Amino acid sequence: MDSTPELCSMRHLTTCSLTLLLASLIRGQMLNGDEGRPSCSRCDLHLSCNCSYSGFTSVPMVTDQALSLDLSFNNITMVTQDDLMGLSRLRALDLHGNRLAVIHPSAFDPLWSLEELDLSDNQLTTLNHKWFSKLEVLQQLNLLDNPYSRLSSPSLFYGLVRLRRLMFGGSDLKELRTGDLLGVTELDELSVHANNLARC
Ligand SMILES: *[C@@H]1O[C@H](CO)[C@@H](O)[C@H](O)[C@H]1NC(C)=O
Ligand SMILES: *[C@@H]1O[C@H](CO)[C@@H](O)[C@H](O)[C@H]1NC(C)=O
Repeated sequence: MDSTPELCSMRHLTTCSLTLLLASLIRGQMLNGDEGRPSCSRCDLHLSCNCSYSGFTSVPMVTDQALSLDLSFNNITMVTQDDLMGLSRLRALDLHGNRLAVIHPSAFDPLWSLEELDLSDNQLTTLNHKWFSKLEVLQQLNLLDNPYSRLSSPSLFYGLVRLRRLMFGGSDLKELRTGDLLGVTELDELSVHANNLARC
């Protein structure tokens, strides 16, 4: 049932936190360098690469000139340390609607231009603050609808000083703690799906 209403979606976090309180598959190929990796060349003139709905089970190679990469609605199960190597110009990465259960702690480190990251609707049972530690210009982060029961400590979002839009939660979210949003100071929009909280 997909009926989790937005508890919270407003301009100012301070007001919002109050409302809040109320309310493996290993990759198919053996790798010889990059030879075993699938690739996607569906990139337009604006270097926007749309590799959605393509049945990928691992992250395909794309040009390292890519500015945006849509990998939504594939069957990708993990992001390794090397999958996103070289994509230093990438501004938007969409992994919505895959089967991601594993993300290497430094998988996103090469993406130092990344402004938008969508990991929603996957199989992530734990969240790791290390994923985001190098994403200093990240403005938008969507973690909705994964089977994690709480956010991680230390704060996932500490250091994301440019973050403006944040979405998290889902039917498995059981617990919210006051420190969870530590470091998040300038949000324009916060969406939390939290219908099944056991405690705050
Ligand atoms: C990619 O293509 C799909 C349809 O195949 C479309 O729904 C989606 O909006 C496109 N993504 C982008 C970023 O344009
Ligand atoms: C993902 O895999 C399942 C079963 O393996 C298949 O039914 C489904 O069509 C695949 N989805 C995509 C988007 O390729």
